[in-house]
Parts: sequence; C-alpha cells; structure tokens
Amino acid sequence: MTKAFLFDLDGVIVDTAHFHYQAWRRLANEKLGFDISEEFNESLKGVSRTESLERILAHGGTTLDEATKTDYGTLKNNWYVALVNQMTPDDILPGITDFLVQTRTAGIKIGLGSVSKNARPILEKVGILDKFDVIIDGNKIAKGKPDPEVFLNGAAELGLLPEECVVFEDAVAGIEAGRRAGMKTVGIGKADILTEATLVFADLQNVQVADLIQQLKALE
Ligand code: BG6
Ligand code: MG
Repeated sequence: MTKAFLFDLDGVIVDTAHFHYQAWRRLANEKLGFDISEEFNESLKGVSRTESLERILAHGGTTLDEATKTDYGTLKNNWYVALVNQMTPDDILPGITDFLVQTRTAGIKIGLGSVSKNARPILEKVGILDKFDVIIDGNKIAKGKPDPEVFLNGAAELGLLPEECVVFEDAVAGIEAGRRAGMKTVGIGKADILTEATLVFADLQNVQVADLIQQLKALE
C-alpha cells in the first residue's frame, strides 16, 4: 500500500535544473576552457556538487588540485544561488501545487529526497516548505544518488517501509536510487531517457493521484 510520495526537488518540484546547468556551463566556459552540452548535463542531474565537478573535469579530460576544486564548487554555487534567489512561486513546475494538495487529501505523506544543500531555502523561496512532512537534503546524507540513502532515510523518518513509498524523479541517477531503495518510481520527463522508471509522465499536470495509485497497483 502506498503511504508516502518522496519527491526529488530540482526538475520535479521546481524548475531549477536549468539553473544548475547554466552555472556549471559558465564554470566550464570561464574557468576550464571547454563547453558542456545539454546532453552531457543529463549525467549531472541528481548528482552531488562535488561529484558533478569530478564528472565535468573527466569529461573535459582535465584535473585540478583539491583546493581549486573546492573554490570552483563554491564559485558555481554562488552563481547558482544568485539565479535561484530570483525565483518566485511561478517557478513551481506545472501541476505540482495541485498534485501536492491531492496527495495530502488522499492521506499520503509528502517527503523531499534531494541531494541539494540548497533545498530548504528554495522551498521557502517558492512558498511550499510547509507542505512537506519530511525533508531529506544534501546536508543530511553522506552519499548522493544513485545511492539509495536519501530515499531510505526519507522512509525511515516517516516510519515507513520502502515498498510503501513512491519516488518522483527527473534524473536517471534518481530513478536508480529509488529502484535500489526498493521503491516504485515515477519518472518526470522523457520515457526514452528514464527507461528504468516504473511509470513516466512528461509532467504532473492532469495526473490524478487516485489514478496513479491504481496504475502502480496494476503493475504489482
Ligand atoms: C540535485 C541536482 O538535486 O542537487 C544536481 O539535480 C545538483 O544537479 C545537486 O548538483 C546538488 O545541489 P547543490 O544545490 O547542493 O549544489
Ligand atoms: Mg532532479
């Protein structure tokens, strides 16, 4: 029985995935001397800040000393924070506000499972921090996605079993994390990218919680 929905933040609740890309792209262009494509950016989604920089460096065939890596991670984050500081409730992705209301009405708990250290201030900025029963963010976990830690902690804090939780994710790494946690996964995005998800929707507009629960049950 489904008792909780665990939502990723970036690219599921709010439209911040492109801000991460913009800030990393600026770092690659201005400091590393190469460009990163949107296609390559898919492999950064759901991945922690330090691991993202490692992947970018490997992609460009370059290395940096530890102190410079720390500086560049901070620089990227400063650019990112400047972008997210301009966000308003309009940056909540289509269908999310209504979907959270439906979830609450259905008696299903609402959790956040994000590796971002900026998760709380972003939820506050767009005015939906109080909608979450539990928040697991980058400050509470040791391992980023695709490790299942973030979602397992969410289930544990809610006092639920993994199989009672459904994960909502836009990232390949996040779907893998949900799957490894033993949870059903709903991909938000393209079915040809999120191939491992239990179900995939372009967005949550027009998705009814009751219908979704039925669809997931039918697949058991
Ligand atoms: C994830 C994003 O939600 O958070 C990644 O998909 C990002 O792109 C990661 O790297 C860490 O975020 P932050 O805000 O702690 O740098
Ligand atoms: Mg995401």
